[in-house]
Amino acid sequence: MMPWAVTAQVNRTNGSQSMKYTFPKNFKWCVATSAHQIEGYNRHSDWWLWESQGKVANKEHTQVAADHWNRVESDVELISKLNANTYRFSIEWAKIEPQEGVWDQGAINHYVQEIKLLKKKGIEPFITLHHFTLPNWVAEKGGWEWPDIPTAFERYSEKVFISLTKEAQIQNWITINEPTVFLAAGYIAGTFPPGRKSDLSALKTPLVNILKAHGKSFHILKKLAQVKNENIQVSMAHSMRVFDPKHSWNPLDQIISYYIDKIFNWAVLSAPITGELVMKVPFVVSIDEKLPEIKGTYDFIGFNYYNHDLVSFSFTFPFHKFEPTPGAPVNDLDWEIYPKGIYRIITEIHKRFPQFSIYITENGLADATDRQRKDYVEDHLIWVHKAISEGAPVQSYCHWSLMDNFEWEKGYGPRFGLYEVNYETQQRILRPSGHWFSAVAGQNGFNSDKDLR
Ligand code: GCO
Repeated sequence: MMPWAVTAQVNRTNGSQSMKYTFPKNFKWCVATSAHQIEGYNRHSDWWLWESQGKVANKEHTQVAADHWNRVESDVELISKLNANTYRFSIEWAKIEPQEGVWDQGAINHYVQEIKLLKKKGIEPFITLHHFTLPNWVAEKGGWEWPDIPTAFERYSEKVFISLTKEAQIQNWITINEPTVFLAAGYIAGTFPPGRKSDLSALKTPLVNILKAHGKSFHILKKLAQVKNENIQVSMAHSMRVFDPKHSWNPLDQIISYYIDKIFNWAVLSAPITGELVMKVPFVVSIDEKLPEIKGTYDFIGFNYYNHDLVSFSFTFPFHKFEPTPGAPVNDLDWEIYPKGIYRIITEIHKRFPQFSIYITENGLADATDRQRKDYVEDHLIWVHKAISEGAPVQSYCHWSLMDNFEWEKGYGPRFGLYEVNYETQQRILRPSGHWFSAVAGQNGFNSDKDLR
């Protein structure tokens, strides 16, 4: 029997049937965070400055965030209590290199120590090198529009790999997290640094530089690992949303939904596979950039999934409107909860790129009362299990997030954590959904009376 086959179990007393969902051996049960959102004290970053300019909801500022910088040992203990065998977190470039060419050995040692603590608990570090934030000195040179940022990012990647793997092997790496999200927010919506409100064509230069930076980072990490006879896995983490036309009878809704899916889900994800960035929407944008140097720079495909959107055409820029399906369950941010969406994305990735393993690098919801989180995770995992049992090579499920944290332009309001954080006392309190998650990770599966097959 395939180790991940669903086995039905009939309850002897009341005859009800419960399904046992077992996941593949060595499946990565993971929780995810990012440095700026939990560490605190990121003084040399563009986001610290952005927050100081009052650009975040309620003029909130990370300041100490969840004070993780000073609580690594106890927070690693919390990860261990979740039975997670993998922890996805980011290294903060602005702390490693606060000024150009100046390396902060104290910050480097901090991350070396964090990795030692994780390894001691049998938790594999899964490193993200860039998760939205930039050092101020890079932002001042133009950020992702600075022609030399790919080289600067390569140098940073090299420094991190050499420093962090001196005494420990790190198997899995993400170079850049969700490029389409931080570029759309930073160059179109204006809600992230640098706060531009341009059109899609403004994305070309930063996107090309991001892909070049990814390619250089991929090659230097693989080269350095090869020298150590280590076989590491390197990729990106892409935001993937499920877009459906609001009115299937309306050709304009169909067209706008098709192009949004093409542009925001597949154009950037495909580029390191094909060596070409193609973003073409008639009368709106035409980007076709050959990038042979990035072709073949994935060892797996990583994606973050949260929600479903109904898309309708609008006659005013940006010519579309997103909304949840009427009557569908939503999280605290009104994002539509649509567990089948993770199955649709996995199967589409596997159909288009069957040669790659698939890592779920984020999945979660804003749910301050924790009323929805257990069912959200259970339902998504049942759909992930269905995709795996149909042959999709899914290797990891990273829940976003380990703990409540700073939710970018929305500030501290949204609560995504398996651990609640009391920001007054910095106390971490395991939510009931966190108890359930730890049992699932500990047993490599779960029983459920839900059968979505
Ligand atoms: C990301 C995400 C996280 C968010 C989470 C909830 O890009 O990985 O933006 O940083 O906190 O996705 O929105």
